[in-house]
Amino acid sequence: MSQTTKELVEEETAVATTPAAARLSLNGKEYEFPVVVGTEDEVGIDIGQLRAQTGAITLDQGYGNTGACESSITFIDGETGILRYRGYPIEEIAGNAEFTEICYLLIYGELPNQQELAKFHERLTYHSLLHEDMKKFYEGYPMGAHPMAMLASMIVSLSAYYPDSDGKNFDLDLNIARLLSKASTIAAFSYKKNIGQPFMYPRNDLSYCANFLQMMFAVPAEPYQVRPVLERALNLLLILHADHEQNCSTSTVRMVGSSQANLFASISAGICALWGPLHGGANQAVIEMLERIRDDGGDYEKYVNMAKDKSSGFRLMGFGHRVYKNFDPRARICKQTADEVLDELGLDDPLLEIAKRLEEVALNDEFFIERKLYPNVDFYSGIIYRAMGIPTNMFTAMFALGRLPGWIAHWREMKQESSTRINRPRQIYTGATQRPFVPLDRR
Ligand code: CMC
Repeated sequence: MSQTTKELVEEETAVATTPAAARLSLNGKEYEFPVVVGTEDEVGIDIGQLRAQTGAITLDQGYGNTGACESSITFIDGETGILRYRGYPIEEIAGNAEFTEICYLLIYGELPNQQELAKFHERLTYHSLLHEDMKKFYEGYPMGAHPMAMLASMIVSLSAYYPDSDGKNFDLDLNIARLLSKASTIAAFSYKKNIGQPFMYPRNDLSYCANFLQMMFAVPAEPYQVRPVLERALNLLLILHADHEQNCSTSTVRMVGSSQANLFASISAGICALWGPLHGGANQAVIEMLERIRDDGGDYEKYVNMAKDKSSGFRLMGFGHRVYKNFDPRARICKQTADEVLDELGLDDPLLEIAKRLEEVALNDEFFIERKLYPNVDFYSGIIYRAMGIPTNMFTAMFALGRLPGWIAHWREMKQESSTRINRPRQIYTGATQRPFVPLDRR
């Protein structure tokens, strides 16, 4: 049996009685830095003493080679398309678990037993109401305000209502329950605000997903039955989005949290980071792109060619990923689910056909093959949300609801880690060197 990197490092450590090290030669001097190996054999060079010893720093634009922390929450192997939450493969979790179980797993490290889950549910249910004063916030937003703008600002506002969230009486578990629970109420209310319908209060007899759907789609004038197919689809999508290790928004949550900003403020910052079209905003951008292709006569090859032409400024939204270089396992599940949901709802969405054709053309094209560009999670998730009746401008807010447990788990992990310091990168300065100030009348 071949030895793992970890075993080799341990063996070397045992024989040499010094930790395995990486050697750096700089300006004629030799330096050694410790090597860190994770439980899945990922190797990192600990450069914590780099500047102190050498005077130099690393430069890694976009952080593609930088490990910002050690974490035991999620493992991704982008080369082979692996995604595991706390060791459990996404393929086994999807379709077999409830979103709230996965929230518990990500945040507390283990799957809950029945008693723990019942208690967790009860807490989520109990805290789903918004303070009545918060409802007035919605009156201040214009019609058509983007749900992400409302979600980010209402989440940070929770710290005004629960101010002890960063004080001495800090009850983290209580605030976690408040956040998970109230976020879904806030998101559903932003939709109701946008379409001018009355807010539907949460219902304690429903599951997390069913409750969200009733807050979105029920009206006081008539009874509303949650369709199981929609509840299942929502549960699956939230699970697929639940965590993705140190992505842009999670790193933002950790960055903001490292200054000891409170939980709600840190998560609100994560929501803002998610909004961008290169990150969670891609699910909205995918549907807008597919609609554009449809309205332009369905000529998907024209758009593949545009994406290949750098001067066009056009990218195939929902394609490519910093980490996945083979396939995105979440995209596979989404594609299959899109077919099943549309089938069960008896819908025939021409955008799904365009998406499939686009994928086929792109996957056989040298440009995309060479650059290892595959559909990511956002490529098919929007088709499912659309089939569920969720409007396009709500898609990224849906992603945010799914990603909440991941953000919370990372924030909590960071707080519990004794080695956490304020995140403060350095830079290589490229501006003007020292020069005398020129008074205004001489410029
Ligand atoms: N369409 C066309 N070309 C692309 C695309 C795309 N979607 N993505 C990357 N490329 C090209 C890019 O031009 C570059 O080419 P070259 O090497 O010739 O300069 C090469 O592929 C590498 O791209 P990159 O921008 O350096 O890669 P990155 O790791 O910095 O960016 C990405 C990753 C996801 C931001 C990028 O692939 C992208 O913009 N995709 C479209 C937006 C999208 O779908 N985002 C959702 C990501 S998954 C969910 C999430 O993170 O929330």
